[in-house]
Amino acid sequence: MAESMKGMHRSHRCTEVSSANIGETVTVMGWVQKRRNLGSLIFIDLRDRSGILQIVFDEPKVGVEGFAKAGTLRSEFVVAVTGTVEKRTAAVNENLKTGDIEVIASDIRILSESETPPFPIEEHSQTKEDLRLRYRYLDLRRPDIQRNLMMKSKVAMLLRNFMEKEGFLEVETPILTKSTPEGARDYLVPSRVHPGTFYALPQSPQLFKQLLMCAGYDRYFQIARCFRDEDLRADRQPEFTQADMELSFVDVDDVIDVNERLLQYVFKEAIGIDVQLPIPRMSWQEAMDRFGSDKPDTRFGMELVNVSDIVKECGFGVFTVALEQGGSVRGINAKGQGAMPRKKIDKLVEFAKGYGAKGLAYLAVNEDGTYKSSFAKFMTEDELKALVEKMQGELGDLLLFAADKNKVVWDVLGALRLELAKQLELLDKNQYNFLWITEFPLLEWSDEENRFMAMHHPFTMPMEEDWGKIDSDPGAVRAKAYDIVLNGTELGGGSVRIHQNDIQEKMLEVLGFSKERAHEQFGFLLDAFAYGVPPHAGLAYGLDRMVMLMMKCDSIRDVIAFPKVKDASCLMTDAPNVVDDKQLEELALSIQVTAQEEKIV
Ligand code: AMO
Ligand code: AMP
Repeated sequence: MAESMKGMHRSHRCTEVSSANIGETVTVMGWVQKRRNLGSLIFIDLRDRSGILQIVFDEPKVGVEGFAKAGTLRSEFVVAVTGTVEKRTAAVNENLKTGDIEVIASDIRILSESETPPFPIEEHSQTKEDLRLRYRYLDLRRPDIQRNLMMKSKVAMLLRNFMEKEGFLEVETPILTKSTPEGARDYLVPSRVHPGTFYALPQSPQLFKQLLMCAGYDRYFQIARCFRDEDLRADRQPEFTQADMELSFVDVDDVIDVNERLLQYVFKEAIGIDVQLPIPRMSWQEAMDRFGSDKPDTRFGMELVNVSDIVKECGFGVFTVALEQGGSVRGINAKGQGAMPRKKIDKLVEFAKGYGAKGLAYLAVNEDGTYKSSFAKFMTEDELKALVEKMQGELGDLLLFAADKNKVVWDVLGALRLELAKQLELLDKNQYNFLWITEFPLLEWSDEENRFMAMHHPFTMPMEEDWGKIDSDPGAVRAKAYDIVLNGTELGGGSVRIHQNDIQEKMLEVLGFSKERAHEQFGFLLDAFAYGVPPHAGLAYGLDRMVMLMMKCDSIRDVIAFPKVKDASCLMTDAPNVVDDKQLEELALSIQVTAQEEKIV
């Protein structure tokens, strides 16, 4: 039966009690982690979000009724206990913060009983994630998730501290808004008052923060919820949080400077990591050439090597055809992996195909100097020798090659490099490698749309020295855009914005926006710029990603209290769900589900 806590006041969280309190009376409240009966004594581990404290029930001290009550306790009962702190009589438990003390209960109340939970509430749970997410309110009791969420709160506070000290203002921007062209699909919200029209949930506060710059709020920041209807991955959620900022009268270096100090402060205060400044910078082109990725993990080598020159006249058609078609041939050297069994190599080939490769050519340099290779028979001894030399191949190495369009080769080898690093355990979770990627291409060709698209967004400033090429060679124009990368994850990104009408108009023209469409979509921004706009630039971090990396989590779901699963649904609330016909009527909406969609449901 649930009792009242009337007259009892919690004096400490469980692990706030320490040997300094020996002899004192304390009152603690929390959940029963487990109970052990040892004849005349009953022990419980009491848990709250601070950790675990051992409580001892001894009949002469807690009374007959209290002792009987203690005997009924089961896991996840919520109790209040008053007692005296004593040094542990049994061996000290080194694994517990409170392992050298215990509380001898003088009073106990059962505040709430609990059914047996569907899975054990414990650290490093073995329970399948689906089940945990269905009962997320129980999963959230687990110490590892609690630590993650406490860290997220701390990081948000540190960010606010830093921004405040640096003269940033926190300003809220709307959630019910208009589509912001950030590249993903929008979540739409139907309007009741204006039937047939929709708000969009913001993909980021991008346009509003630029308007705030126009309005003179020269340093803005916000911890902002963003929504993107895109395919989910381990580091992507449909709703997530940005630590977002925008600054006026600045250029690339100013933004980088304030953000380097921010990262140094936050990582030191949050997890004690010293970020060495300046953080290295690498151009996008160099990142692609060396790592096949615009977010390279630089904790290990295995860099890409362009061997196009060496193989351009060789007898292996796969290589020469790719080169004739304007592509390249590049390789990576998996050091010491020459003895990898054929089956395992075949798996790598399949992996590469998953990233769009037509195949993956390999050459192992055997310990006796001979080769084991899928293509050696098409090449002369000299050609092979030159190839191995270019790859710095030594006895016992495994060389892997992809031949295709640059983009495919980068994707394939970039992913393969990471896959091998995982398999070979080359990734040190205690190392934090920060890297700025700069000089991104302004535009990216989309085969699907058959036009150039903005790589970052349409308001990103081109580099002055490249602007002359906007008509003759648009793909070669670089942008004043930058990403901050940590251990192969894009932690944040931003750019200097266009504040000149003529450049903006040209940019929109290249992107294929008609004047009308541009005006319809973001006329308010273009209009605002007609009334005096300062040069401005900004950046946004993925806050969830930042905490995920700080806490060494493999999934972003572990740092979000109520996350969505892969199909963007919430297993606990069953959202999204069907709504009443009456609600649809009010919104002037009717639903048409095709037979195929119904089947999926
Ligand atoms: P961008 O689109 O690069 O830039 O987003 C900034 C950062 O937000 C995080 N992020 C995500 N995190 C979790 N789930 C997602 N689906 C997701 N999408 C993005 C990433 C990313 O680096 N308005 C610009 C910023 C600017 O130019 O100032 C923007 O939103 O960590
Ligand atoms: P094939 O001529 O298709 O039998 O391929 C010979 C070898 O080259 C096989 O090991 C293939 O996996 C590999 N291969 C095929 N296409 C490519 C490619 N585009 N890049 C690298 N290797 C390839």
